Amino acid sequence: MNYIMEYQDVVTSTNQICFEYGVQGKENTILVANKQTAGRGRLGRDWHSEEGKGLYLSILHKATPEVERKETNCIPLVMALAAQEAIKETTGMECAIKWPNDLVYQGKKVAGILVQQQLKPRTNFFDKDSLDEVIAGAKEMSRMRGEDLPKVDFWVVGIGINLFHDSFPEELQDKATSLYLEKFSEIAGDDLKKSLIESIIRCWKKYFGEYLNAGSFFRLIHQYEALLISKDKEVIVHGPAGDFSGICKGITQEGHLMVSVDGQIEYISSGEVSVRGVNGYV
Ligand code: BTN
Repeated sequence: MNYIMEYQDVVTSTNQICFEYGVQGKENTILVANKQTAGRGRLGRDWHSEEGKGLYLSILHKATPEVERKETNCIPLVMALAAQEAIKETTGMECAIKWPNDLVYQGKKVAGILVQQQLKPRTNFFDKDSLDEVIAGAKEMSRMRGEDLPKVDFWVVGIGINLFHDSFPEELQDKATSLYLEKFSEIAGDDLKKSLIESIIRCWKKYFGEYLNAGSFFRLIHQYEALLISKDKEVIVHGPAGDFSGICKGITQEGHLMVSVDGQIEYISSGEVSVRGVNGYV
């Protein structure tokens, strides 16, 4: 798997730029920026992206025909595995994963992942999170044109890692941390960042390659669940239809979270949902 590497100083959002590249027909590009002026997080949130403080990296990928639409459900999980391994390789810090794709160190968030995709036939720009809302429209368009179900044209996976923050805004202080705050106050910033980027790309190629070869997340489930912070614990699922709680039983090969509620398994897709531990963020 080969990628074009691109570095920029200031961008709106590495995901947004990669998405524009995708619309222009560019293929398989990795973009790293030093600062984002409009960094985006999941569920329509902003992503705090100060200059030089974080790692802001996005990968544009043409969808592979063999895996098609299903592919994007598991991309955040594949990236979470890759980034977890890269952080461990580079710093020795062992993060856990909060489904679907937060990396957590000692109860606080160190990294977040955002996947965005473009369907064929083209609809408006949208987040993976709002897929369910637009999918019905895209299906209808396909049906009217006598085509199969909509397929993904390309997708973008972006990761933000908190590297050198020595503090966070008040509303994030209980939930977020950085590599600097936890361990690396004495290490030269550029070296750490460079090694981390190289390691993320290497680990990404490894895990994404395994995922494509298997044709599903099946072979990675065990590894993912070993890092899953809520496994066998009580969680609260906050969704558009309301909240409910249950015991987290793990994930499926489609990347859904299994939550046992009164003995019945509910399959949660990442969509508009956030999952919390009973005592807060994790
Ligand atoms: C989340 O946890 O809410 C996801 C955060 C994703 C942030 C990264 S930073 C690089 C890329 N560009 C963006 O605008 N967002 C992602």
